Amino acid sequence: MKKILTIVGARPQFIKAAAISHTIRDKHASELQEDILHTGQHYDDAMSGQFFTELDIPLPRYNLGVGSGPHGKQTGLMMSGIEEILLQNHYDGVLVYGDTNSTLAGALAATKMHIPVYHVEAGLRSFNRSMPEEINRVVADHVSSLLFAPTQTAVHNLRNEGFTDKNIIFSGDVMYDNVLHYSTTALQRTKPILDSYILTTLHRDFNTDNPDRLKHILSALNTITEQLKTEIVFPMHPRTRKCIDSMSLTPLPNRIHVVAPLSYLETLAALQRCSLVLTDSGGLQKEANFCRKYCVVLRPETEWVELVEDGAAVLADADEQKIVDATLRLIGQVPPANLHFGNGHAADTIVSRILES
Ligand code: UD1
Repeated sequence: MKKILTIVGARPQFIKAAAISHTIRDKHASELQEDILHTGQHYDDAMSGQFFTELDIPLPRYNLGVGSGPHGKQTGLMMSGIEEILLQNHYDGVLVYGDTNSTLAGALAATKMHIPVYHVEAGLRSFNRSMPEEINRVVADHVSSLLFAPTQTAVHNLRNEGFTDKNIIFSGDVMYDNVLHYSTTALQRTKPILDSYILTTLHRDFNTDNPDRLKHILSALNTITEQLKTEIVFPMHPRTRKCIDSMSLTPLPNRIHVVAPLSYLETLAALQRCSLVLTDSGGLQKEANFCRKYCVVLRPETEWVELVEDGAAVLADADEQKIVDATLRLIGQVPPANLHFGNGHAADTIVSRILES
């Protein structure tokens, strides 16, 4: 029996871990044991607990309760807590997801103890080193022994950085697995938020913590609601709420409906029912495409370049005119379908390869 430790901490990681945990439990319970460690990076129920309940993820065996903080302190506390668990228990490998501080802490703590690191969502690059996520994923990749690349672009990026095909596995994207698995359930279990709306999310530090960018984006949302007479549903990350509250802004117009962060099924239902997605999230860009909605990306660049090349996503940065123009052009239309993120069986590929290692 092989034994692995899965390290999660932030919202998107719970969603990705759900696909792998279900595969282990349903198909490989006799050969692979998984313990889950939650760093506590996200801790509000809306950002953490609700995903475990809704997606039926096994409760974490360990919760470090690290919470929010500056990068060094937060990552350091996580590393120290993870190291302690790894010293007390034997694990054959450590599974990390994506590019958050929890990913970095898990990858570094494990590799320093010579425990193999398996990285899901390896090889993504924005080539923008001012993003904390770019540092996290580059470092995590370089200490990992199995690199699960969701796209061929990610494979190509890893080859360019000197990795060999022995370590790179094109797995497809576990988020695509999830969309295929949960789309119908999401519609059945939820009620429409409104009849018709644009779905907006915003949480990247370079948008929330920069008053100029934040003002331009909010102003673009305002213009869109006025010109299109459309509603915007805006599930708001706590970080964004704090930043908006701290700025003396005029209240957001009535057509912008700020709501608490949505659960996974609520998000998936909202994606299927909306007319367009405006976001700076990485995951939502892909999910919009899987649900056949155009995505206007509130960033200067993206790791998911395939979406832009296909014309399914448009980079509008925090440029008010670009955001408004792209929205007016694309609202209600259907983008090209996904051809780049695997066949919906990424979790099977990942678990099989871990078992063979
Ligand atoms: C983190 C990840 C980001 C990922 C995002 C998903 C890093 C560097 N960033 O960003 O890559 O896209 O998660 O959501 O790891 N807060 C709460 N309650 C919570 C969690 C956070 O109020 O449960 C607030 C706190 O004020 C905190 C701020 O949000 O300081 C930022 O949280 P943090 O985990 O540092 O980064 P995210 O912006 O969530």
